[in-house]
Amino acid sequence: MQGFQSIDPKKIEDNPIKLIGTDWMLITAGDISSWNTMTASWGTIGHLWEKEVTFCFIRPQRHTYGFIEKSDHYTFSFFEEKYREALNICGSVSGRDTDKAAKCGITPVEGPDNTVYFNEARLVIVNKKIYTQSCDREFFLDPQIVPEFYPPNMDIHKMFVGEITDCLIRSL
Ligand SMILES: Cc1cc2nc3c(=O)[nH]c(=O)nc-3n(C[C@H](O)[C@H](O)[C@H](O)COP(=O)(O)O)c2cc1C
Repeated sequence: MQGFQSIDPKKIEDNPIKLIGTDWMLITAGDISSWNTMTASWGTIGHLWEKEVTFCFIRPQRHTYGFIEKSDHYTFSFFEEKYREALNICGSVSGRDTDKAAKCGITPVEGPDNTVYFNEARLVIVNKKIYTQSCDREFFLDPQIVPEFYPPNMDIHKMFVGEITDCLIRSL
């Protein structure tokens, strides 16, 4: 964790709506010998079951999905604006056929609990998977969401709730 220092998650100063929804993040699962990462802008950070938690939503068709399903822990990496193009790439090509780190010029490093994050990140959240549930068309109350995001034959996001076990900020 060279170049990073551990902080209390309560000291995260970013607005979580902007941090995830506007700045975006890389969700990375697997270990340093075998991992995948993808851009995400759906999710949040909060408080649940007396824990500090994150939520994210991943479609089963993503290559990252298989990795997060198998992982106990996973990370969120957040970047300065100059990495926007890297986030665009990681959100438009698949790790099935592309070495995303090489293509984007970002460096995977081993994190706590055998996780992977990126050395260029400004903020990293390490999550322990504590709850998962697939969204279900039957439970949407807003009539616009299903036709817009989940038409017939399209896969549906799975929600992952993670307990925040580490929070790292760039210290250099
Ligand atoms: C800005 C942005 C936000 C995204 N947010 C999500 C998300 O929250 N959940 C999701 O399943 N896919 C999301 N995606 C799509 C994945 O990042 C994209 O399909 C990616 O290529 C998957 O890579 P993989 O197959 O290597 O896992 C987003 C893409 C972009 C560009």
